[in-house]
Amino acid sequence: MKTMKQLLAAGALLGAGVLAIGAATAGPEQIDYPTAYQSRYVWMGDIDRHDNNTIRRLYINPEAFAAAKPGQPLPDNTTLVLEMRSIQMADGKPVMKDGRFVPGDAVVGIGIQQKKRGFGTAYAANLRNGDWEYAFFDINGVRRATPSQSCLTCHKPREAEDFTFVAWRVIADLKK
Ligand code: HEC
Repeated sequence: MKTMKQLLAAGALLGAGVLAIGAATAGPEQIDYPTAYQSRYVWMGDIDRHDNNTIRRLYINPEAFAAAKPGQPLPDNTTLVLEMRSIQMADGKPVMKDGRFVPGDAVVGIGIQQKKRGFGTAYAANLRNGDWEYAFFDINGVRRATPSQSCLTCHKPREAEDFTFVAWRVIADLKK
């Protein structure tokens, strides 16, 4: 059995490593474009945005969906994709089907929320969203260079739902 001293020494080494990684990698650059997410990821549902006549389509990587438990923080290595999509319009009005918008073909961009151990360590406590990092990609898969501050700030109050706005509830519904 390891002595307490040995355990503490191991812990200190581990902590130093995580801090070094976090400081070097904070920001949207550490998130890669999720290639083929439309076919590979689990599509969890659509949110109709009546304020700007678009749809937000929510996806999650299948490994995280399989491991996710309702009411519990999402697993390490979770990638949530929020796809901004056009809707079908007729005579300047949204086409409706069963009270819902009908998705169009044009993807406007994707927002990503990704959880990895070590992410977030470089952020101050009042900004940090646990181990989550954020990025936004345009329709050509080009990462928007803007820092993640606005994403972190708006998602921060959602801590009780692991910093998500809809994923927490949608996962609970789908896994009932
Ligand atoms: C002003 C507040 C606000 C800001 C800023 C913001 N979000 Fe969100 N986010 C939301 C809301 C509200 C939702 C729920 C979906 C919707 O209504 O469009 C959401 C949902 C999401 C989701 C779906 C998963 C979930 O349930 O949380 C992702 C992924 C996401 N946002 C990424 C981002 C990224 C990346 C940025 C920064 C580029 C960002 N968000 C900035 C408010 C915000």
